[in-house]
Order: sequence, then structure tokens, then C-alpha cells
Amino acid sequence: MTNQYEENHERSLKDPEGFWGKAAEDCFWYKKWDKVLDDSNKPFYRWFTGGVTNTCYNALDFHVERGRGERIAMIYDSPVTNTIRKYTYKELRDTTARFAGVLKDQGVVKGDRVIIYMPMIPEAAIAMLACARIGAIHSVVFGGFAAKELATRINDAKPKVMVSASCGIEGKKVIPYKPLLDKAIEFSDAKPEKCIIFQRPMETASMIAGRDIDWKTAEAKAQPADCVPLAATDPLYILYTSGTTGQPKGVVRDNGGHMVALKWSMKAIYDTDENDVWWAASDVGWVVGHSYIVYAPLLKGCTTILFEGKPVGTPDAGVFWRVISEHKVKCMFTAPTAYRAIKREDPKGALIKNYDISPFKILFLAGERSDPDTIQWSENNLKVPVIDHWWQTETGWAIAANCMGLHHFPVKYGSPTKAVPGWDVQVLDTDCNPMKPGEIGALVVKLPLPPGTLQTLWQRDDRYVESYLSEFPGYYKTADAGFIDEEGYVYVMARTDDIINVAGHRLSTGAMEEVLADHPDVAECAVLGVEDKLKGQVPVGFLVLNVGVTRPNEEIIAEVVQAVRDRIGPVAAFKKALVVKRLPKTRSGKILRGTIQKIADNKEWNMPATIDDPATLSEMKEALMTIGYAKNPS
Ligand code: COA
Ligand code: AMP
Repeated sequence: MTNQYEENHERSLKDPEGFWGKAAEDCFWYKKWDKVLDDSNKPFYRWFTGGVTNTCYNALDFHVERGRGERIAMIYDSPVTNTIRKYTYKELRDTTARFAGVLKDQGVVKGDRVIIYMPMIPEAAIAMLACARIGAIHSVVFGGFAAKELATRINDAKPKVMVSASCGIEGKKVIPYKPLLDKAIEFSDAKPEKCIIFQRPMETASMIAGRDIDWKTAEAKAQPADCVPLAATDPLYILYTSGTTGQPKGVVRDNGGHMVALKWSMKAIYDTDENDVWWAASDVGWVVGHSYIVYAPLLKGCTTILFEGKPVGTPDAGVFWRVISEHKVKCMFTAPTAYRAIKREDPKGALIKNYDISPFKILFLAGERSDPDTIQWSENNLKVPVIDHWWQTETGWAIAANCMGLHHFPVKYGSPTKAVPGWDVQVLDTDCNPMKPGEIGALVVKLPLPPGTLQTLWQRDDRYVESYLSEFPGYYKTADAGFIDEEGYVYVMARTDDIINVAGHRLSTGAMEEVLADHPDVAECAVLGVEDKLKGQVPVGFLVLNVGVTRPNEEIIAEVVQAVRDRIGPVAAFKKALVVKRLPKTRSGKILRGTIQKIADNKEWNMPATIDDPATLSEMKEALMTIGYAKNPS
């Protein structure tokens, strides 16, 4: 006998048009689509062509017009400013419409780009929704990125307007944002015409006359703007994510497919209905924030929580339980690293007992591999199902999950369970041959991808095809390696490129190497992600210095650490580097990254047959031991 998951999965692959066409009926369309799946320009598949809609209308006005205007749409909970503020759907709609009016007053029209560089305050979500309302394409940049990274994104997206705030609050630190914004604009060739700044009381930003506009003053003068009807295929946003070089990839998401898939996912994957209270503890600068702080819960008519705080230290490791209990959260979504941080401070979960968390039903984890320890600790202490699921910035929503609204499969630790309906996940070898169950290979998805996934890379169709579609023709390359077992459970083992995951944040070691290589004393370098108990992985740099350099190693190390912080940002958490005589390489000159990583992480390793000089690995091991890695003496 099949269950609901199996029925849905089979139907979604056999008849994608029927499956997603039905899901789309749950949304509002000014004009219905002509075609559910348009494959006339392969490999660029488009969903709901001919359809006319508006994502902001579906997220806000739709609910107000159906008599749900007084329900709570968003709760801003900020332990760092001691604030709790609730917005009804009507309030959020009206505030968004007014800010959309502010954007219009600055000449922003459909298709213009708006970069949003904001901390976790309601105005960040309002700015996103306001762009969606008038068809402007937003690009949110995470606050932990440095001015140079922001500049790269400004150069690529060429925004007409930037929206920012005077500061963010990181635990107990106030981080001024405006100086970073000013520097980024100075660094970039594309100059935005206007910057709209939300002044926060903890730090007042100085304004540049003629360019900078105060959010509140402009809002007081603005007229509310109506939703603009948009083609389903018009871009909703660009979200930059780490690529294999310093040049990030601008993932483009459409309006129609995104709206349909996300709304569908709230019930099917997360078992969350309208009126339920939902909390994704992430940041609007990441894809989880786009999809599950802002769009999906509002499209579904839930109450979403926007949390400005950390799992620990704001004020303590009980803050998650306080938020769950105070707002009666039914389901929560965060990265495993957040639970590792709590577990480290409160290993017995003693603080949980101070709160009534009985409304809490399911914990969802993603963004990095969920280690069994963290899952079990959460299961034992929270007494709810803990669901690992796998996705990427590019996919916008989950590729594999235990779809809690369809069927709850037994959990296998280490696996995010099965391919979600819409996803035909397969494992291939390098020659594109299918692997047998249990055999590790490249995790790929047979085209077409379901709605809500990336359309292309911003103005780089060629890079989109080259990065994702060319290596395995007919498939999307996830760049994750793994296997599928006899029962269809997917296992995600490692990235096949140089991307690492630091505290759930995606970073490119290649981009860090570019920074290190620019140091005048560095002849050669490598950056690797090594295991870290809290953050999952952290980057470690290996430097080979130019002949004749006599300055102390510590000085050079401090300089490269600072350079990564300045050019990429504090979020890179690049704090450790080592000076080595040489890097272990193959005879053809390739750095033996995999072997070095295994040595650092105390994993079993074999001497590669192709190694140029075996002594380089012993040297590397000794060097790693000086900073607390490669502890295993064998
Ligand atoms: N703006 C400015 N700076 C930021 C920032 C932001 N939005 N977010 C992080 N930073 C800075 C931090 O202040 C820190 O700086 P420091 O080196 O001066 O201390 C650095 O970037 C690293 O931050 P973070 O990775 O958050 O590490 P942490 O040690 O401060 O906290 C955790 C560790 C586990 C508590 C934290 O990473 C966390 O809450 N993670 C949740 C994961 C998450 O939300 N993932 C998103 C995908 S689901
Ligand atoms: P991001 O684009 O930041 O969401 O990062 C995507 C990458 O994070 C994936 O390609 C995986 O390598 C990793 N990842 C995300 N979720 C999981 C998971 N549940 N298990 C293992 N790896 C994951």
C-alpha cells in the first residue's frame, strides 16, 4: 500500500504539469497561465508562462481581502533590544505599501534592482515585500559580509537604490552598517542613485546630502503603492551565493513558480497550516531567510517570527525556549550549529524546564549535515520529531526531506530522508552512469527542476549552464556527493567543489585563497575546511612564504587573517593559518586537499599513489598538531 508521500512523489514526476497546476490553484492570479511547464527553450525551463500574478499580493493583500487582516502576520522578537512587536496582516500590508511608495518616489520601477543590506529588523522584510509589490528585483546581502563583498554585488546587480540601516546588533556588539555601505559604494563602479537608511537609536548614521534618504521621513511623505501585475516568469529576486571563485553567483528566482512551490511546501514538508506560528531562526540575508522567514509563511497565512538574536548569549541558552513558549511556536527551522551552541552551554537542557514548550511539535534542521549527536540531544530534550532536510541557495526549497505533512518516515540518522515530490534525485558516476544503491557518486537532479528553483544566474546564462547543467547533460549538478540506499533514503556526504559550511554559512575556500595569495610575502597557499565542534567546519589557511622573507610568521598570519575579515567579512570565521615549507602535492602539481583534510580531522587516510614527496604529509601533520588538529598519533 502506498502512502501520501509516495503518491505525491510519483504523480509529481509522471505528471508535473498536473501536479503543479493543481498546487497553483491555491494562489491568486490576475491571469491564469497558458502553460504550466514551458520547455520550449531547453535547458531553460519556465513555469506558469502566460500567468500574471504578484508575490506581495499573495503574501499580504490576499489574506486581508479574505477577512484575515487582523491576524498576526509577523512577530519581531529582539532580545538584543528588548523589543517584541507584532504586525497584523493589515498593518504589514499597509506599511509595505507605504514603503513601496517610497521606492516609487525614488523612481524605482519594475525590473530595477534594489540592494537590501539590513540587520534582522522588520524593515528588512518590509523592503523585500515592497520591492515584490512594484516588481523591483531585490537582492539582499547578508550583514556579516565586508564592504568589498557588498561592492562585488553592487557591481553585478547595478541597483538603482540601496536600502540599509544605521547598524546591526550582534550579541552585545553594535555593528555600524552605514560606513560599510559607504565604503562599498566607493569601491564599486556602479553607483546607486539613492540610499534609504533606517536610523536605529543605538547608532545614528551620518548621511550624504543628495544621496541618502531617511526612511522614516520619506515614509511619512509617501503614498501607498498598489501591487503591480507581473509575469509569472519575471524575476522576484537575485540572491548571491558563494561560487568557486571570488565572483559570487547571482541566483535568480521567478515570481510564479516560487510562490506556488513555497506555499505548497509549508503543509507538505513542514505540516504547517495557515494561522500556525512558524519560526525560522536564520537571517534574511540567506536563502532560508528569504524562503522561510518571509515568503513561504506569509504566502501560507501563518504567523512568522523574525528573531534578532543568537541561540546563546542573548541573554542565555534558554532564549529559543522562551520564544517558543511566549509565541506558541508550532514548528521551528534552524541550522544544527545553533543547537550545538545551546548544547555546549546547557548540555542537560536544564533551561528548557523553565518554559512551557507544549505547543512545539517539530524541529527542522538544514544548511549543513546534521550530526546524530545534535539530533539525538534535541529529540531527547524537546521530545518532538527532529527532521533533517537538504537544500541549497540555488534550489530555494528542500530537495530531500521527511515530508511531515504527507508521511512521517522513520528517521535514519545521517540522512535527510527522501527526495521531496517534484525532485528526481539520482546518483551518477563521472561518466553519467547510474550508481547502485549504497554507492557514493554525484548527487544530481533530473531536469526539469520543480518550480521555485533557480531560473539562471543574473545576466550569466552561460555560467548557469556551465556551472550546473553541462557536466551531467540532462541533470542539475548539486555539487554534493552522496548515495541513496535501498529504501530511497538520500545521504549527503560532502561537497565536490571548494564550498565549505561554517556555522550554516556557505563560503568559498577559493575566494579566501584569492585573498591570501594577494599578500606580498605569500608564494603559494591553500585554504581547507576542517571539522569544528560548534561551527561544523572552519577554514584553515596554509601559507608557503617567498624565499628570503624574514618577518615573523605570526605577523604575516595576523595580516592574512585581517585581510580575509576586511575583504570577505567576519562571517568567514577565518582565524587560523599556518606557515609551512611546502604543500603536499601530486606529481602533476595538484594540492592533496582531501588527504590534508583527513589528517586534520583525524580520519583514516592512505598515502596517495600519485604523491610527489611523502615527507610533505608528515610535515603537514606536525604543523596541524601545533594548532590543535591532527591529534591522532597513529
Ligand atoms: N552582521 C555583522 N556581523 C555578523 C553578522 C551580521 N549579520 N552575523 C555574524 N557576524 C559576525 C559575528 O559577530 C562574528 O564576528 P566576530 O568574529 O567579531 O566574533 C562573525 O561574524 C562570525 O559569526 P557567527 O558565525 O554567527 O559566529 P558566532 O561565534 O558569533 O556565533 C553561532 C556562533 C553558532 C551562535 C551562530 O553562528 C549562529 O547562531 N548560527 C545560526 C546559524 C544560522 O542562522 N544559519 C543560517 C542558515 S540556516
Ligand atoms: P546553502 O546554499 O548555503 O544553503 O548551502 C548548500 C549546501 O549546504 C549544500 O550543497 C550542502 O553541501 C549543504 N547542506 C545543506 N543542507 C544539508 C543537509 N541537510 N545535510 C548535508 N548537507 C547539507
